[in-house]
Amino acid sequence: MEHLGLIGIGVMGGALALNLSQNGHDVSMLDRTSSKMEKVVNESKTDAHIGTLSAYLDVQEFVQSLPIPRAILVLVPSGVPLRSVINSLIPFLEEGDLVADLGNSNWQDTEAHSKNLSEIGLAYLGVGISGGAEGARRGPSIMAGGTEEAWARIAIPLKNASAKFEDFPCCDWFGPGGSGHFIKMVHNGIEYAFMQLIAEAYGMMRDGFEMSAQEIGAIFEDWSEGPLRSYLIEIAAEVALAKDPDTGRPMLDVILDTAGQKGTGRWSVIEGLHLAAPISIITGSVEARNISAETDVRKNGEQIFGPGYRAIREDRAIFLNDLKAAMLAGKIMAYGQGFEILSRASEEHGWNLGLAAISRVWRAGCIIRSGLLDQFAAIFEADAKADLAFTDAFLEEMRAGTESLTRIVPKAISAGHPIPSFSAALSYHNARRSGRVTANMIQALRDRFGAHGFERTDRDRGETFTGPWH
Ligand code: 6PG
Repeated sequence: MEHLGLIGIGVMGGALALNLSQNGHDVSMLDRTSSKMEKVVNESKTDAHIGTLSAYLDVQEFVQSLPIPRAILVLVPSGVPLRSVINSLIPFLEEGDLVADLGNSNWQDTEAHSKNLSEIGLAYLGVGISGGAEGARRGPSIMAGGTEEAWARIAIPLKNASAKFEDFPCCDWFGPGGSGHFIKMVHNGIEYAFMQLIAEAYGMMRDGFEMSAQEIGAIFEDWSEGPLRSYLIEIAAEVALAKDPDTGRPMLDVILDTAGQKGTGRWSVIEGLHLAAPISIITGSVEARNISAETDVRKNGEQIFGPGYRAIREDRAIFLNDLKAAMLAGKIMAYGQGFEILSRASEEHGWNLGLAAISRVWRAGCIIRSGLLDQFAAIFEADAKADLAFTDAFLEEMRAGTESLTRIVPKAISAGHPIPSFSAALSYHNARRSGRVTANMIQALRDRFGAHGFERTDRDRGETFTGPWH
């Protein structure tokens, strides 16, 4: 059994400390607040905890409590707080010690920390963990990046603590430097897209058909069985059915419609754009959160133009059937967009990421777990570059789902509903199914104003021509 250090005993850190000790590992904890650590130690007494948990307020004492070479996990907010933790540790660490950042750090920060620490003989890992506090306690999904040798030193305790999919630990090492955090960032991009698809479906039901939160909850409950089976749909049912203990009203009706975000969704979009990957469904989700935060603009807009949405003119049962199929196609395409970012990043940075292995680690514990991921693992196993939305395995779902999207998107839009991710999904599919698009016009314009040249449909690829306008 291992003895690890863990810095940052907040909700996630505390849960992970308990999880590790339950799996037989000793954990030295460091935090600024002793009461948080006391709470964890007390909680460990009520359960069968084999490993010991010890609490420290002083960095030096904490470091000295650990066996050499040391392995220290850090679970603090990314950016400045992480940097200051690393700086506070450095004077007390010795060559060969290992620091692993388990937060949602930007992958480029992770690359920088890795480089700086390796220059002074310290090992550094960037480890994405998903599953929220519940996951950290009962089994998160874990995506590691850094050197393989450093990973080998903490792989066993983290595999023990991770979620299991039919006994398979949802915890793996994927590549060097910031690749683990990059994978976690894309996980979150997909998470944003799913949440937005769910929110748009909720909006169409709520405002297009005047359905109550209770009725909407029942629909999500129905969807959480069968092909849409997934953690986020399950909890969508739960939150829609929940009542506010103070007022007795549905919880959803008392929650302000302004979404928070800490950056990982936005970073996914930025990285996707850098890599020229089509990522419109994820982009739609980030923009919807951005607009949701502009409360005053939205109120003002409603004053000027009246509310965006009206009743959707369609038989409710027919629409809901289409919505379900459209949701499945939308999800497959959103996963596809995420995997596309990963595949391009892998090539660009020489990471050699295995999409099958990533799918396997996402099968349990993480926020985007769903019944589809086991299928994805098999698909990528057979073809490492598979295009999920075009693969034979989903042909039926994609045919039916895109027909449904073609029916619901115009109906909802003509009734004034903002549905950026559903409409992005449909346009993404329509563009990718078109042997002929309209980029010939773009090329003509580029050539007209900038003499950029173009290829001709009646000549070999690679030859460049200019237009008669020159
Ligand atoms: C997870 C979550 C987790 C966190 C997100 C939320 O996988 O467990 O993604 O990491 O909830 O950071 O991100 P936003 O605050 O940006 O929605």
